[in-house]
Amino acid sequence: GAPVEVDISSLQPGEMKTVEWRGKPVWILKRTPEMVASLKKTHNQLADADSQRNPAEFTPEYCMNEHRSIKPEILVAVGICTHLGCSPSTKFASGPQPSLPDDWQGGFLCPCHGSTFDMAGRVFKNKPAPDNLPVPRHMYLSDSKILIG
Ligand code: FES
Repeated sequence: GAPVEVDISSLQPGEMKTVEWRGKPVWILKRTPEMVASLKKTHNQLADADSQRNPAEFTPEYCMNEHRSIKPEILVAVGICTHLGCSPSTKFASGPQPSLPDDWQGGFLCPCHGSTFDMAGRVFKNKPAPDNLPVPRHMYLSDSKILIG
């Protein structure tokens, strides 16, 4: 499939947009400073916190960092659960929420079998999903334009 160009100039902190790339939904989330800070708090609860697993499929080298992205505030991830392919929903509010741990920091929840992911798409331990949400290859064409693929 052809690479997809995305304009993120109108994206506000806390907002996410979804584009289609190779028939898959790709999320672009502009994280707030609180969302970025939440990544440190989830670190010990994750199955692959440092995104070491199968980088060719899940995390390009330039996103193997604590925010799992090129720019700390911008997450680019394929919105398809690595368990059986459902589409996780956003659960951005922190604090107690039904079916989520009391110390929930916000992230994504797969409605099919309850896998939870943090604000970098990293899967929590002991969940059916084996891997983090894939970060597709991408680059910045300018401050406000991303090329995915
Ligand atoms: Fe997401 Fe099973 S498909 S937890």
